[in-house]
Amino acid sequence: SKVLVLNGANLGRLGSRQPEVYGGTTYAELAEHLVETGRRLGLDVEVRQTEFEGELIQWLHQAADAGADVVLNAGAWTHYSYAIADAAALVGRYVEVHISNVHAREGFRAHSVLSAKAAGIIVGCGVGGYDLALAHLASLPH
Ligand code: DQA
Repeated sequence: SKVLVLNGANLGRLGSRQPEVYGGTTYAELAEHLVETGRRLGLDVEVRQTEFEGELIQWLHQAADAGADVVLNAGAWTHYSYAIADAAALVGRYVEVHISNVHAREGFRAHSVLSAKAAGIIVGCGVGGYDLALAHLASLPH
């Protein structure tokens, strides 16, 4: 089945952005790795990233229309975008991922407007959290 791995603002900078927080894996390496993880799990994985909130909303609409599952790392939008939350709520199911432990950082990162409707939440596992999210989706009935 189809899974969209959707990344929000600044996640294209993985590998060079605060490597002590987000690790040294580049976005390109991550994207390639996740397609391979999907292949292993029998999932058709597509990985995207955008700096534009409206584009992420449109991708969530596409996932809803296609009946695709979503792995969602909305970056800082996680903490305040009700528009992203409303769009995510249209998707059949999504797993929320954060590379860093958002509970060990600034206070504003501890709250997510996306969590209430998530089919799972994975935080603080590094980029390996995306693999965990895909494994979780693969384990759910279709
Ligand atoms: C993040 C955590 C957010 O607080 C931050 O704004 C990000 C990345 C994470 O993956 O740890 O951009 O979602």
